[in-house]
Amino acid sequence: MVGIRRATLDDLIHMQQTNLMCLPENYQLKYYLYHGLSWPHLLHVAETDSGRIVGYVLAKIDEESGNKDKPISGHITSISVHREYRKLGIAKRLMDICMEEMVEIYDAAHCSLNVRVGNVGAMSLYRDVLGFKVLQEEIDYYADDENAYEMRKYFKPEYEEIDAEQYSGAAKKGKKQADAEKMNVGDEDDAGEEDKQEVAKEETKEQPDQDEVEDKPSEVSESTENTQEAGSAEPTASKKKKKNRKKKRR
Ligand SMILES: CC(C)(COP(=O)(O)OP(=O)(O)OC[C@H]1O[C@@H](n2cnc3c(N)ncnc32)[C@H](O)[C@@H]1OP(=O)(O)O)[C@@H](O)C(=O)NCCC(=O)NCCS
Repeated sequence: MVGIRRATLDDLIHMQQTNLMCLPENYQLKYYLYHGLSWPHLLHVAETDSGRIVGYVLAKIDEESGNKDKPISGHITSISVHREYRKLGIAKRLMDICMEEMVEIYDAAHCSLNVRVGNVGAMSLYRDVLGFKVLQEEIDYYADDENAYEMRKYFKPEYEEIDAEQYSGAAKKGKKQADAEKMNVGDEDDAGEEDKQEVAKEETKEQPDQDEVEDKPSEVSESTENTQEAGSAEPTASKKKKKNRKKKRR
């Protein structure tokens, strides 16, 4: 039997280990801690009878949501299940309980995530089983330049109509637009804001700066799985931020 329960601080290391085994998008422990301290209701683990953690979901509330322009939005940062426990409904249960908490505790209007366009299994789970919709395709989103689908599930149907208007014709974010956004990250105001959120944005697949990082999971961060089975993360955001910090030091 595998049970689902809210994660405790003691679980974070096991979540990180599971992530390292299953996905190429990996994070420092402080990123899990940041999630756990900020949105404790949105971290869940799948645990066997013997107490082994075999799956997790790591989620958050979008820090920039919850204002007049942007309704409160949940975001699935990462989810994975040990290979030998897959196709047993564990990921679905993790997602269901996490999204229930987004609605009940945070009154979220929707939940978003990013998924590799080649991750057929995860796409099937999100789109066919859980009812997520593709908002747009983000070009070169991942560190290895694979594209991502940005997906969203609506808890408040009125926002689906609003998004339909906003994203109509933008199903595929063009290279030109993505490049333009990358160019904009040099803006000093943005850079200051991003530094405040530094702990939230570290992504460890790239080599970390020696003066910024205590642990170095990137050295052991290669997933044991094919990178085609990949994950939801924010590698682009962290690549941008890193570039920013370097720029500021000069
Ligand atoms: C994606 C992942 C989390 C799914 O976990 P899981 O516990 O096996 O998923 P579930 O058993 O809850 O799947 C529920 C349904 O989703 C669909 N699904 C899940 N995995 C699938 C796969 N590999 N191929 C096709 N459909 C799949 C099926 O409809 C499944 O129902 P079924 O088993 O009755 O056919 C797991 O494969 C995994 O950890 N992969 C590596 C990490 C990863 O890719 N994470 C997602 C990042 S965006």
